[in-house]
Amino acid sequence: MLSFAAHNATRTIWLTRPSKLSALRAASLYKALAGLPTTQPQSRRIQTVTKWRPVQVLDEWVAKEARPISLRQLMVFGRSLTESRLLSSANYVRTELPTRIAHRLRDMQRLPYVVVTNPHISDVYDLYYTAFDMFRRVKEIKTLDENDHFCQDIARMLRAHLSVIPKLAMGILECRGLMAQEKLDIFMNTILKSRISRRVIAEQHLALSETFNSPWFSPGAKVSEEFIGEVFLKCVAKDVIERCGTAVQELARSANPPDVIIPEIRIDGHLGAAFPYILSHLEYIVGELLRNSVQAVIDHHQKKYKGKKDMPPPPPIEVTLCEAQQHVIVRISDQGGGIPRDILPYLWSFSRGPHSGQRLENLTQVPLMAATLQELRVDGNFTGLQDGRSGYSDSSLTSLSARPPNLRLGMGLPLSRVYAEYWAGSLELHSLEGYGVDVFLQISKLGNKNEQLATRATMDS
Ligand code: COI
Repeated sequence: MLSFAAHNATRTIWLTRPSKLSALRAASLYKALAGLPTTQPQSRRIQTVTKWRPVQVLDEWVAKEARPISLRQLMVFGRSLTESRLLSSANYVRTELPTRIAHRLRDMQRLPYVVVTNPHISDVYDLYYTAFDMFRRVKEIKTLDENDHFCQDIARMLRAHLSVIPKLAMGILECRGLMAQEKLDIFMNTILKSRISRRVIAEQHLALSETFNSPWFSPGAKVSEEFIGEVFLKCVAKDVIERCGTAVQELARSANPPDVIIPEIRIDGHLGAAFPYILSHLEYIVGELLRNSVQAVIDHHQKKYKGKKDMPPPPPIEVTLCEAQQHVIVRISDQGGGIPRDILPYLWSFSRGPHSGQRLENLTQVPLMAATLQELRVDGNFTGLQDGRSGYSDSSLTSLSARPPNLRLGMGLPLSRVYAEYWAGSLELHSLEGYGVDVFLQISKLGNKNEQLATRATMDS
């Protein structure tokens, strides 16, 4: 299939965006192929603009390697914060963001032409190009004033990029069948992991800068007992599960008829298991897993006792914690009937997963939703936690209870695995057909593993 890069095979110094006309033609073509209505909304027609872009600059940045960091490095760096450390952090972010974005822009250019011209994917390309172009121009940051300006730019970009995930979700659905599913999923895995990584380093720098600028801060002093930037030093698994469990149960209560009994969530095993982690990442994963389990148990139970008189309470969801030398493992077991055999092969797919697109018809409101449903604080809708953490960090727990109960981007499970793998962990699922599901989340507990930027299969960082 003709790729964006191949389409521009004759380019030497300049790379063009496809013209408005060809983008519209391609858009109609893929819609026709995908069996979707081919009329373009008027606003979309007006929006598409031809832009000239210097390809050489992108080549230069693609040639640079990303420099991954570990949770431990983030902690050590921010532990006793000084002006010179803050400026080093700024300069790391200044060069790292455009490098990481450049790699993803190149991935997008390699997509088939008909995919990259999809309006949603092309919007994401535009967002990334704009961010790349802005960050690559930032000169070395030498003063705190320059850092303040840089932080404003980062915060602006973090907000501008809130719509990336909903746009990718829509784009990928519309491109189903236009590219091999496996390749589409590798693309999604890579772009999402890279996005998490950029937001981590950007938000960490904002959090450190905010700490440094706060009136109570004295340079070199220990910053906080609990957090260093966005890193929660002692993330107690049991506490996170309890908090997410309560939020998920509330969500289920509002999404189901009032007479439905919401299953209990029980926790046993190594209840003291604790590790350094980015809290919002863990809350996102656990929230999604519990949400799946709770709804599956409710649905299965309702079906089983439909029309029968005395319905017993639904079986509880059992969470077992296991702390080993290097890992903490969280097993979530439900009796929600398991996963039908025909769905299993697509369980981890972004484009063909069991929920893909189920509730995306009403997407007009989704771009306003925090992208991973965990970014409300960046969106400005949420004004900080009582624990005094920086106002830029995510909180999936808060957004979990703030989200429309039925909203599903269809990405919960595969995106949870991307989060788990990002800090060198893993997520596996075993279905006992007709009975229930066991999910195993493994977390690397020492914080000494680097971010995992590459995706299994073939893509580079
Ligand atoms: C993203 O959210 O996709 C980003 O790349 C954020 C970064 C521009 C700060």
